[in-house]
Amino acid sequence: MTDRNQTKESPEKKAAGLYAASLVKDGDAVGLGTGSTVAYTIKELGRRVREENLNIVGVVTSYQSEMIAIEAGVPLTSLAETPKLDIAIDGADQFDSNLFAIKGGGAAHTREKIVSMSADRFVVVSDPGKKSEILTVAVPIEVMPFGRELVTKSLKDLGGEPVLRAAAKKDGPVITDNGNFVIDCTFGEIKTPQELAAKISQIPGVVEHGIFMNVDEVVIGKTDGTIEII
Ligand code: 5RP
Repeated sequence: MTDRNQTKESPEKKAAGLYAASLVKDGDAVGLGTGSTVAYTIKELGRRVREENLNIVGVVTSYQSEMIAIEAGVPLTSLAETPKLDIAIDGADQFDSNLFAIKGGGAAHTREKIVSMSADRFVVVSDPGKKSEILTVAVPIEVMPFGRELVTKSLKDLGGEPVLRAAAKKDGPVITDNGNFVIDCTFGEIKTPQELAAKISQIPGVVEHGIFMNVDEVVIGKTDGTIEII
C-alpha cells in the first residue's frame, strides 16, 4: 500500500464520509474501502459501534483500512466468511455523470472491486473536485511483475501512456497488498469506459484495472458540511 493516510482535515471529505456511515444499518455486513475519504466513514462506524451499539461486520479492502478499522473498533470479517455484503463504501479518484469511476489512487482497486461487487449497494464518497464531465485521469492498472513489459507494450498499443507507479520516498515501484506492481495509464478523454475496460482486461498479466462500472450512488461532501447525492 502507498501511504495515503489522512493527514489533514477535509470538511468536504468528512461530510461525505459521515453521511455514508449513516446509511449503514444494524446487522449490515459492510465493505470498507481505502483512502482518506472513507477513513472518515470507518471511524464514524467505529463510533456508532461503541456509542450506539451498532451491530455490524466490516470487510476491509487494504491493510491501511484494516488498521483504521481495528483502531476504531469496527468488528471485521472476511469475504470467505461473509461473501455477500449489504453495502460497500469507498472513495474514488474521478467519476462522471453516468457514475463510471476511476479508482486505485491508493493501489487498492483490485480488492476494492471485489468487495464492491460483493455488495448489494455500492456508495462512493467524494469531494466536489472529483466530478468530471468525462473521465480523464490516469487509469491505475494492477499488474503481475512478470507481465510488466507485455502489459506496458499492450497499453501503448491501445493509445495509452503507461507509467510504472513509484513508491513514495524510496527507490523502486509501489507494491500492492497482493504483491503486484501498479501502472498508471493516461488515455486522454475516456469516451467509452466500458470498451476501454474490456480491452485492458484482455491483456495477459493485468490483474485488475481501476475503471469501475458498478457505482450505485455518489455522495459529494461540501465545505459547509452539506452533501449532494448523485
Ligand atoms: C484507493 C482508492 C481511493 O478510494 C481513491 O484514491 C480516493 O482516495 P481519497 O479518498 O484519499 O481521495 O481508489 O485505491
